[in-house]
Amino acid sequence: MKFATALLLLANTRYIAGLPAGCYDQNIEEIGHGYHDVETAARVARTLVSRESLANLNTYDTNTGYPVGFVEYYADCQQDGEPVMLMIGISSSNKNIAAGSNASLTIRVGDHQPGDRVDPHYIGKVPHSVAGSPRLNLKGQFINYKPTHSEKEYFVSRHHEAISWFPGNPIHDSYWVKFKVESIYFVGGFGDRAYIGEIPAEMYLTAKPFPSRKIPRRSIGSHGNDNHGSIADSISSIVDRLHIALFGTSPDEYLSESIDQKHDDPQTSEHMIVDQTNEV
Ligand SMILES: *[C@@H]1O[C@H](CO)[C@@H](O)[C@H](O)[C@H]1NC(C)=O
Repeated sequence: MKFATALLLLANTRYIAGLPAGCYDQNIEEIGHGYHDVETAARVARTLVSRESLANLNTYDTNTGYPVGFVEYYADCQQDGEPVMLMIGISSSNKNIAAGSNASLTIRVGDHQPGDRVDPHYIGKVPHSVAGSPRLNLKGQFINYKPTHSEKEYFVSRHHEAISWFPGNPIHDSYWVKFKVESIYFVGGFGDRAYIGEIPAEMYLTAKPFPSRKIPRRSIGSHGNDNHGSIADSISSIVDRLHIALFGTSPDEYLSESIDQKHDDPQTSEHMIVDQTNEV
C-alpha cells in the first residue's frame, strides 16, 4: 500500500488548484490602492482566510509560562471565515487548550502549501513586501465539528497528506474542529495605505470576500517556463493510468473512497478539548 500512497500523493499534485477560480475583481480597481475603512478591512480579512490554509495556532503553556505558536492546517471549508481544522490529541496545542489556555490563530499572506496557487493580490498591499501585506489574528473557541464529504474533499485539496491523519487513522488520535471567531485584530499592511486595528466579529462574519484572480499554473521554483506545467500534467496523466492498471480505480476515486472509509466519531476521542453540547 506504500506504493499506492506514493502514487496517490504524486497524482494529487493536480489538486493544488485550491480555491475555485474567480475572475479578476473589478472592485479592487474601483477601490484603488488603499483603504482605511473597517468594512473594506473586513472583506480583505475574509479574503485572506478564504485563500490561505496554514495558521499559527497560538496557545499558552501553563508549565513554562510562555506563549507558543505552531503551524496547523486549516481550510475555510464553508467559506464563512471560520477555519475547519484537524486537532491531533498528542499535540502540545491540544494539551495546552485542555489545560485551560485560550487559543488564537495567526494567518498571513503566503500561508499555504508549497505549490498551491493562491492569488497574492490585495488592495493596499505593497508588492513583494511581507510587512506591507495583510495578516490577522483571530481569537475564539474551538468546537467539535462534523464536516461533510465535500468539505473533507476541499480540506484534502488544500492538504494532500492530511488524509493520513483523518479521524479513524491507526496512528494518531484526531478529531475535526471548527474555530468560532469571536474577535479579530487585523493589520492590512503599512498604515498609510491599509487599515490596522480591530474588526467587529459580526462585520467580519458577514463580509463578502473579494474574488480571486486565476493564477497561471507554474511549478515550484520555475521562472515562468511554461513547459513545467505541461510536464506536470503529463506525469499526472501517466500516474492516473498506472494507478488504474494496478488498482482498478483512478487516484480520484481512490481518494474519494478513502475519505468515506475514514469515518470520524468525535465521541470516541480520548482527548476531547471541547464540550459536546457545542457541536454544530
Ligand atoms: C481567556 O480569555 C478570556 C477573554 O475572552 C479571559 O477572560 C480569560 O481570563 C482568558 N483565560 C485565560 C486562562 O487566560
